[in-house]
Amino acid sequence: MYSIPQLQDLINKQIAESRYPSAPDELYEPIRYIMSLGGKRMRPVLLLMACDLFDGSIIKALDPAVAIEVFHNFTLLHDDIMDKAPLRRGKQTVHTKWNDSVAILSGDVMLVKAYELIARVDDKILREVLSIFNNTATGVCEGQQTDMNFEALDSVTVQEYLEMIRLKTAVLLAGSLKIGALIGNASPEDAEHLYTFGENLGLAFQLQDDLLDVYGNPEKFGKQVGGDILANKKTFLLIKALELAENLEEEELHYWLNEENADPETKVRSVTDIYNRLGVRQLADEQMNEFAEKALSALEKVNAGDDKKKALRHFAEELLVREN
Ligand code: IPE
Ligand code: IPE
Ligand code: MG
Ligand code: MG
Ligand code: MG
Repeated sequence: MYSIPQLQDLINKQIAESRYPSAPDELYEPIRYIMSLGGKRMRPVLLLMACDLFDGSIIKALDPAVAIEVFHNFTLLHDDIMDKAPLRRGKQTVHTKWNDSVAILSGDVMLVKAYELIARVDDKILREVLSIFNNTATGVCEGQQTDMNFEALDSVTVQEYLEMIRLKTAVLLAGSLKIGALIGNASPEDAEHLYTFGENLGLAFQLQDDLLDVYGNPEKFGKQVGGDILANKKTFLLIKALELAENLEEEELHYWLNEENADPETKVRSVTDIYNRLGVRQLADEQMNEFAEKALSALEKVNAGDDKKKALRHFAEELLVREN
């Protein structure tokens, strides 16, 4: 059985060994840049842990694991353009350091690279793995478009929000686990339980991400705190606040949502203050814990060694108390 640091080490070594052509520099340098900034590497770790649950070959799972991380980093390049984000992993985002076109095109070639790596699985599972990967990637795009559509809407329900984050975030965790399970030759039932585990973990993870966007420590978070408030993102916090606010608070909240020339710091401070008065942080915490519970109960159903399941449970729990 591999420990989590061992798996992270394997992934980071494999990533460090990736070689990209030297020209054009503007196409490949951003890839080296974003991939070298680290990040939690949780999707490839989940893939490897899923494979290891069934005593599958970690060596065989390594290229697909890196494929998922390359794909994830590609989505970040494009997401940061859409979200006008200045910071990622504590450093300048690619479109700020270079420009939008560079971030778009480097992202495109990363998607191709991800396919190249994922296609290295054994022939007998290639079709199924590609189908999971395609469904996942399509889901992420659907979730991202919905996320942007919601910016302009006044009312979004919690249910609509949950479906949006399921697509933009949760399906990638779920897909990573399922691909790992397939490489490990798991039964279809176990692969499905792991998918459900990943989906619920992903929902909890995105709720936590939304919370950190408001309440994170700027030194540790690595992204701009308050970015979601500035973009009028319909996060769980904002949806609940819109539901609960009355009279003056309701007016105040709508004022900030509609004020296009607001001073960014004042807007973030004022909206956060409304959240605090309405107690929506606690509601988000509760919702997050509900999904975490659901995730863990799906994991319980997987037919695999208790020690290995315990390691996966521990990894999931740690993710949900993260600071970045
Ligand atoms: C960021 O993902 C995008 C979301 C789904 C919230 P991570 O929080 O996994 O980012 P890194 O890879 O660790 O930087
Ligand atoms: C994450 O949404 C979804 C994807 C990157 C596909 P966010 O926009 O909340 O992610 P961060 O906060 O920028 O990492
Ligand atoms: Mg986004
Ligand atoms: Mg973003
Ligand atoms: Mg976020």
